[in-house]
Amino acid sequence: MTINILRSETIPLRTDEDVVRARRIVRDWTISMKFSLVDQTKLVTAVSELARNTVDHGGGGSALLEMLDDTIRRGIRLTFEDQGPGIPDIVLAMTDGYSSRGSLGLGLGGTKRLVNEFNLFSEPGKGTRVTIARWK
Ligand SMILES: Nc1ncnc2c1ncn2[C@@H]1O[C@H](COP(=O)(O)OP(=O)(O)O)[C@@H](O)[C@H]1O
Ligand SMILES: [Mg+2]
Repeated sequence: MTINILRSETIPLRTDEDVVRARRIVRDWTISMKFSLVDQTKLVTAVSELARNTVDHGGGGSALLEMLDDTIRRGIRLTFEDQGPGIPDIVLAMTDGYSSRGSLGLGLGGTKRLVNEFNLFSEPGKGTRVTIARWK
């Protein structure tokens, strides 16, 4: 199936303001695409968690925001990327309640449950890339 990219934007993720901006853009997109309020909240929550991880654990990076149309439905795909320390044990990092810093966020495991697609690639010493998508 062909996926058309209707719109795309790359934004830096270095500061708290960048995280706020990522949230705002994704919220605006979900509203313009008429996502339900519940789905808006799910996606914006996922953005908060992943953008924060990029800034806090990855030492900063970027987010690629894409509005998609696969001819049957529309969706939003988000790719968070950094060249930080990477994640040595992905299974452990995905475990609910695990944090290398003792924080109590929703975390990677919770974020996965908020979206339709979730892919995590990480290489220790090279960085981390997380791609999520939510279809309407
Ligand atoms: N972008 C990243 N770069 C390096 N490590 C990461 C990244 N994202 C997550 N991690 C690691 O995975 C762990 C789990 O992440 P998460 O579930 O979001 O918990 P939290 O952010 O509350 O620590 C983090 O504590 C951190 O060790
Ligand atoms: Mg986190």
